[in-house]
Amino acid sequence: MSDDMQTVAEQQRQYWNSPVGERWVSNQATLDGMFVPLTEALIEYAEIKPGEKILDVGCGAGTTTRILAAKAGADGRVFGVDISTALLSAAKAQAGDGPLEFFEGDAGSAILPMENADLIISRFGVMFFADTARAFSHMRKVLNPGGRLCFVCWGPLQDNPWFQMPLDVIAERLGPIEPITPRAPGPLAFAQTDYVEEFLGRARFGNIEIKTRDMQLICRHGPSEIAGFLMEFGPGARVLATLDVDEETRQQLIVDLTERVTAFKEKEGVRIPASLHYVRATNSS
Ligand SMILES: C[S@@+](CC[C@H](N)C(=O)[O-])C[C@H]1O[C@@H](n2cnc3c(N)ncnc32)[C@H](O)[C@@H]1O
Repeated sequence: MSDDMQTVAEQQRQYWNSPVGERWVSNQATLDGMFVPLTEALIEYAEIKPGEKILDVGCGAGTTTRILAAKAGADGRVFGVDISTALLSAAKAQAGDGPLEFFEGDAGSAILPMENADLIISRFGVMFFADTARAFSHMRKVLNPGGRLCFVCWGPLQDNPWFQMPLDVIAERLGPIEPITPRAPGPLAFAQTDYVEEFLGRARFGNIEIKTRDMQLICRHGPSEIAGFLMEFGPGARVLATLDVDEETRQQLIVDLTERVTAFKEKEGVRIPASLHYVRATNSS
């Protein structure tokens, strides 16, 4: 890895080990609740069979790892890998005694504690690598010949209003902000499907399939709570972290955002339209 790439990898490690990791832990139940339909779709798309060996990349607090362990059953084996100490501690604390284990390290470069895996899977945990093609090539080596890769990631910014709205509110109150660099590590890094095909091809994955799905997620919290949440996670939070914003301005931004979020309020909760890419491929070497 070049010096520049090492710097990016170290920045990501620091980011996920900053208070961001703790915030994910304390909000995991909310996120998991919102993500139920997209997680069910991912698990179905992965076509998991009992007895499989599975690597869950960027497993965070282990929600998907536990689902995978239940699917793989007593004869299966599931490893969760992540770079965040806080999130992995939460994962280990909830692991129970299923066939699952956790490992701390950069999935794109660390020696991974698995070989002859049947499946590499991820819910939003693979968009943060310094050198994406190299990272996927590295991970592919733990797969059986013909082994599967399956992950879900976010589609384009303009189709994910919940990422766009915080950015709009920040720009309106504080002035123009730097546009998000396409393909740069972050939640929207894989928004362009031609890029996903390109780096998977370079990493020697074959049978690449990308399905873009529009989903309506539901959050049962109130609009102001959600607005606060959107200033703590995702692109809005990342931009805000680069600006010198005092607490009063931050609160004002939350008020601005609450007004927009309220427009999505419905009887069963606040509706969150989401555009997602579901990606599948196989180890072709
Ligand atoms: C958006 S969170 C998703 C967490 C979890 N998959 C979920 O859906 O709840 C992204 C996760 O990827 C992890 N991560 C980021 N870069 C990583 C890397 N290079 N290797 C392993 N994990 C990484 C972060 O620490 C974080 O837990």
